[in-house]
Amino acid sequence: MSGAARILFVDHAGVLGGAELSLLDIAVAFRDRCEVVLFEHGPFETKLLEHGVSVVAIPSGAALRGVKKGTRLPSPTAIVGTVVLATHVARRAKKAALVYTNSPKAFLIGATAAALARRPVIWHLRDILDRSHFSASNLRLMTLTANARVSRIIANSHATADAFVAAGGRRDLVRVVHNGIDPAAFDRVDPTARLTVRRALGIPDDAFVVGSFSRLHPWKGQRVLLDALETLPDVHALIVGGALFSGEAEYEKELRHRAAQPTLAGRVHLLGARDDIPALMSACDLIAHTSTLPEPFGRVLVEALIARKPLVASDAGGVREVVQHMQTALLVQPGNSAALASAIMRLRREPKLAVSLASSGSSHVRERFTRDAMITGVMANVSDVLEHARR
Ligand code: UDP
Ligand code: GLC
Repeated sequence: MSGAARILFVDHAGVLGGAELSLLDIAVAFRDRCEVVLFEHGPFETKLLEHGVSVVAIPSGAALRGVKKGTRLPSPTAIVGTVVLATHVARRAKKAALVYTNSPKAFLIGATAAALARRPVIWHLRDILDRSHFSASNLRLMTLTANARVSRIIANSHATADAFVAAGGRRDLVRVVHNGIDPAAFDRVDPTARLTVRRALGIPDDAFVVGSFSRLHPWKGQRVLLDALETLPDVHALIVGGALFSGEAEYEKELRHRAAQPTLAGRVHLLGARDDIPALMSACDLIAHTSTLPEPFGRVLVEALIARKPLVASDAGGVREVVQHMQTALLVQPGNSAALASAIMRLRREPKLAVSLASSGSSHVRERFTRDAMITGVMANVSDVLEHARR
């Protein structure tokens, strides 16, 4: 019976971050019996529609959009905005058996809506709930609400799960379901793409190219890669990703300004947000993950290895659950540009090591982080919650 129950997915974003790309795969798997509510219009809405998923955008208003992870006290208008939005979401929740929330903001509003509609709520937790990412008051609000209201936390890594518990969350609520990526788009890339992409971007055929594939945000550490590049004179960087969330435009400006300086000019290619990641990855000789704070999971790590690229990654958060130092990647201290530069140099100078890490990494992630396993894990939790629904 629970097999046919309708699910209401809730996500605050209209843009396509990793959390939204992962939810896209999940919503497609549930498409015959779900609706997705977003708090803004945008490319995520378009993608869901293209995949035949019912979606409704209920724009949340500027006051609520202004509430950030580090916000200490939301404004009275943001609180009113939350209640109004929760009431709208509750109306849709009444037509579903379960509310499935995909981000902290979506969780707080979705949990309120679920309480109003008397429906159980799941939180797919994709954030490290610690003080490096969130204010103390937001952490308290989220863990208290989760402990009181949530039927299940699906954590995208053990690191996210542990941080939730360390912040005061109930361990018994948590199950870990790692992200999984479908390799099909990577396997379809034409072998000529490497040169086509390079020539389109004006990158010499024989240049050594390091790729970075993350939204532009200070904690994603693109500036650490630029620092490393200062000491790697002939290396090029392909920096792919947009300033997706508000407040990051300044950071993008800073990166563009630095990229134009004489020491980096012509070697740093800032492409903005793209949706041809597999082809762009194929043009790289190495992929660098440079987050300066603990990464909750990091889909980009899995993708880099699916693309059979040597990988250097920041050793914090969920990263060690995905890759192992000297077995499938080189791990370096987050924020340490000298360590990043020497790992890049090492893989450049030791191509045998680079190829062997990339090839064992590729087999590892293709077996371990599949889209099917992720969907099976999510479905098992959904069925379980529906069977034991707290009403
Ligand atoms: N990505 C993309 N276009 C870009 C940059 C990144 O589609 O221009 C994708 C990338 O391939 C990955 C996701 O965005 O699938 C980022 O997910 P990740 O988990 O690495 O980080 P997040 O942004 O969720 O923190
Ligand atoms: C979040 C995290 C990222 C994770 C993604 C998908 O956006 O920042 O590390 O891979 O969600 O779960």
